[in-house]
Amino acid sequence: MTATAEGKTGTPLHRALKGERPTTAADHSRELATVLLAWYAENRRKLPWREHPTPYWVFVSEMMLQQTRVDTVIPYFLRFVSRFSTPADLASAPEEEVLKAWEGLGYYRRAKNLKRAMEQVEQRHNGEIPTSYEALIALPGVGPYMAGAILSIAFNLRYPAIDGNVQRVFARLFALPQPSGSPALQKSVHQLVEAVLPSKAPGAFNQALMDLGATLCLPRDPVCSVCPLRETCAAFQEGQPTAYPTTTPRPHLPEVPRIALLLRCAGEIAVEQRPTAGLLGGLWQLPSRDLQPSQPPDKAVAAWLLENEIASPKPPRYLGRIRHTFTHLRWVMEVFEVCPTSFVQGQGLHWVSPDELRQLTLPKAYHKALALAGLKL
Ligand code: ADE
Repeated sequence: MTATAEGKTGTPLHRALKGERPTTAADHSRELATVLLAWYAENRRKLPWREHPTPYWVFVSEMMLQQTRVDTVIPYFLRFVSRFSTPADLASAPEEEVLKAWEGLGYYRRAKNLKRAMEQVEQRHNGEIPTSYEALIALPGVGPYMAGAILSIAFNLRYPAIDGNVQRVFARLFALPQPSGSPALQKSVHQLVEAVLPSKAPGAFNQALMDLGATLCLPRDPVCSVCPLRETCAAFQEGQPTAYPTTTPRPHLPEVPRIALLLRCAGEIAVEQRPTAGLLGGLWQLPSRDLQPSQPPDKAVAAWLLENEIASPKPPRYLGRIRHTFTHLRWVMEVFEVCPTSFVQGQGLHWVSPDELRQLTLPKAYHKALALAGLKL
């Protein structure tokens, strides 16, 4: 074992940045940047927003990439920037259309924030993405990570952009003892990135770290054998790279039991709109209710049908269970099909044809629910 939390031992870079050999810290930082940038020049992922890193493209891509994998984002990004090719296009588009273009990417607040941010760019910044940290961070949905990513990638300014991948890489490089996701780890990583970030090519450096984290310094199976930084990596020197970042047990995600009804009548399907504020605000869904923890789903469906005077010749048909996880809770949704004898009105129900249904934005959980009945949107 060569590295410790206190940094008394470890790799030269580790010791230098921890202040044991302050005179060599700058040299080691330069070396780290040189090695990483050389690796990036050879191995960088070819991504559409990298080919033309206009500030607008970088802004859109970074908003999409929050919480979402690169492979998932690529087709959405290409469709999105061809449909809304400038900040002005996006600012003037109806929100419903923007949500439709986002459908399936999840975390819809990002789409709403992106549109509102471009409205402000139009109103306050002459249609140009601002180049100052203060102005960027004041835009809806832009936090320190995103501001740093935009400034470094689009404007080549020396700002760190520390996402989960970069945190993992640094936790390993320096064998940091602070637990994953903790403010203490964020602080340490921020200080270290600040110390090694080069003023030449900061955007490439930040993206090199992201790519290293996404392709080699993987959470469970890091590919240390080809990692350009392994000689300077304290976790590798210790022989246990996956021990970092250290973990504390995850809190249990609360499960919310729900029922959803696929109401079908004469080829049409009933939908309702979610309240504008809160989770999945304003999106459309099959009529749904949360259940009390011990409430049997079939009884709840029967009570609901009775309450709303929904008569159906056949009993409700159970289609199956959908589990869908959000950051803070998990839906466990039992889906039933009911074919009423008439178009029931009231209770915020709207009857739509399958084509009309395709025009609406439905959360992923409901795409899965409709798939249980063989309906694909
Ligand atoms: N994740 C977030 N931003 C990214 C970027 N610019 N390149 C690759 N992965 C990313």
